[in-house]
Amino acid sequence: MSENVQRRYSAGAMTLHWLIAIAVIANWRIAESAEHAEMPAKMEIFGYHKALGIAILVLTLGRLLWRWTHPVPPLPSSLASWERVLARAVHVIFYVLLIGLPLGGWLANSFNGREIDFFGMFTIPALPVGENKELGESIYEAHATGGEVMIYLIALHILGALKHTFFDKTGGLWRMLPWGKV
Ligand code: HEM
Ligand code: HEM
Repeated sequence: MSENVQRRYSAGAMTLHWLIAIAVIANWRIAESAEHAEMPAKMEIFGYHKALGIAILVLTLGRLLWRWTHPVPPLPSSLASWERVLARAVHVIFYVLLIGLPLGGWLANSFNGREIDFFGMFTIPALPVGENKELGESIYEAHATGGEVMIYLIALHILGALKHTFFDKTGGLWRMLPWGKV
């Protein structure tokens, strides 16, 4: 590979990647603790889960906008073709879930006739879909399943990053961090 080929993600891509990663893991833990809490704490904790979920939606739209306007480093040419396909497939599914989970949550919340309180700063209105608790419930079920799928994919994504960093030494983590050898 010639020296002038970009090997790292841009600073903006790195910043958004790590912000979104922390927010997603936090939001998963918040959803779990809400599930195990009693009313009225349950409602309050889900309130944080919903607000953080909307923040993730906004960060992801920013991430995609950034991705379309800044060069993305090509995957290292030493990757096996199955690794290339698997890595890209996981990335695409991440973007689908990062948009689909919060939009689905917002939609289900709207079918229950609820607004979202954004950390006490402002209110995000319900989408104009009318009330339909049954449909809201089904969407929430799909949402919880999608959230679980995401957790397994995150585990796979981390294993892949560690393999490419410490076994294959093809860059791995350092492609998403401003230091280290790529
Ligand atoms: C927890 C939620 C996470 C999400 C949703 C996520 C999502 C993504 C996405 C969508 C990409 C592709 C970037 C692009 O080409 O647009 C990516 C790349 C990457 N992620 Fe994550 N990530 C997460 C956590 C992590 C963690 C914990 C690590 C480290 C252990 C990590 C390491 C990396 C690395 C090294 C890349 C660059 C892959 C390459 O070589 O091209 N990610 N991530
Ligand atoms: C990227 C953002 C989001 C992620 C990663 C996420 C993830 C999750 C996960 C993993 C669960 C399952 C918890 C469990 O079963 O123990 C869950 C449940 C839930 N989420 Fe989200 N969520 C996000 C955004 C939202 C938003 C924006 C809302 C609402 C506006 C929302 C509302 C809910 C509710 C009410 C449940 C409980 C569903 C049920 O079990 O009936 N989530 N979420």
